[in-house]
Amino acid sequence: MKRIQYHQYGGPEVMRLEDFEPARPGPGQVLVRVRAAAANPMDWGIRGGAMKMVTGRSFPRGLGNDLSGVVEAVGANVTRLTVGDEVLGGPTIKGSGAIAEMVLAEEKGLVMKPSNLSYEQAAAIPTVGITALQAMTKKGKLQPRQSVFVHGCLGGVGRAAAQIALARGASVGGSCRATAAQEARGLGIDPIVEFDFDPASLSGRGRFDLVLDTAGTLAVKDAQKMLKPGGRVVSIHPTPARLAKAALPGPFQVLIARPVTEDLEEVARAAEQGTLQVPIARTVPLTEAIAALTELELKGTPKGGKLVITT
Ligand SMILES: NC(=O)c1ccc[n+]([C@@H]2O[C@H](COP(=O)([O-])OP(=O)(O)OC[C@H]3O[C@@H](n4cnc5c(N)ncnc54)[C@H](OP(=O)(O)O)[C@@H]3O)[C@@H](O)[C@H]2O)c1
Repeated sequence: MKRIQYHQYGGPEVMRLEDFEPARPGPGQVLVRVRAAAANPMDWGIRGGAMKMVTGRSFPRGLGNDLSGVVEAVGANVTRLTVGDEVLGGPTIKGSGAIAEMVLAEEKGLVMKPSNLSYEQAAAIPTVGITALQAMTKKGKLQPRQSVFVHGCLGGVGRAAAQIALARGASVGGSCRATAAQEARGLGIDPIVEFDFDPASLSGRGRFDLVLDTAGTLAVKDAQKMLKPGGRVVSIHPTPARLAKAALPGPFQVLIARPVTEDLEEVARAAEQGTLQVPIARTVPLTEAIAALTELELKGTPKGGKLVITT
């Protein structure tokens, strides 16, 4: 079996496409034959060693946390899934290794793939969908008819958060590049401002119940100026300073998304119903994944959308 793996933490140059021997599934684990995997910014954070406390020092390590595929084998105590099931989800952060022909995951990190989604579409949704859902509902406590502002509203998480909020009857404003404003408007986002907006300029358009910072560039004091009384600010950038701030009473929250099965099921349902659509910018085979991952990491995707790797 082949997968993208690395033998030390580091930049794009440490990635290799190599043979590996997938482990047999232990209790609660599922071996998945991967059909498609998707890249996320956290993949290069993990590969760079940003989560060493969780990922440890044993190598080689696989790369990638979003996948769709077919259940190849199940371990003891696996109750929801069986061999041959089409699934989406991902391995644990510690395990990673979704950009591969085969990967081991926990059963709780996988749900059935809706039959109307392609493997590529299904692989694109787990991380951005779960993060957006948990930001809106768990940390943001979003209610129908509330107003939301998404900083970075056309990124993977930002776009998913905007769609989830709109589907729940909220109104959504957001920031994006001026050249992408029309696309944001097409999603139903209004008002739309540029990334370096002045929070005071939004005061004439009312304030927000929930501000989501997907970029990590919105100063807390600026975000707070945009809030209605009782509103919340959610960041998905868990730096020590932000975590310390979030531990204090007040509107500021930090989300570290978790693979909750029910949330993954809700995200899959939203994708099945079409209320959550994650565009795919580029699809490449596993043999071209390192070049495509490197380009994405170093240059970004000018048009947005996910990089999907098929196996
Ligand atoms: N805490 C968690 O559990 C968690 C979970 C998932 C992701 N994350 C983190 O959240 C971040 C976003 O993830 P993603 O998957 O949405 O990434 P993404 O798809 O790359 O989206 C990032 C977005 O930010 C926009 N952006 C760039 N510069 C900006 C600026 N100065 N101000 C505002 N927006 C700006 C980008 O716009 P352009 O495309 O136009 O450049 C893009 O739309 C990543 O850092 C990721 O590691 C955290």
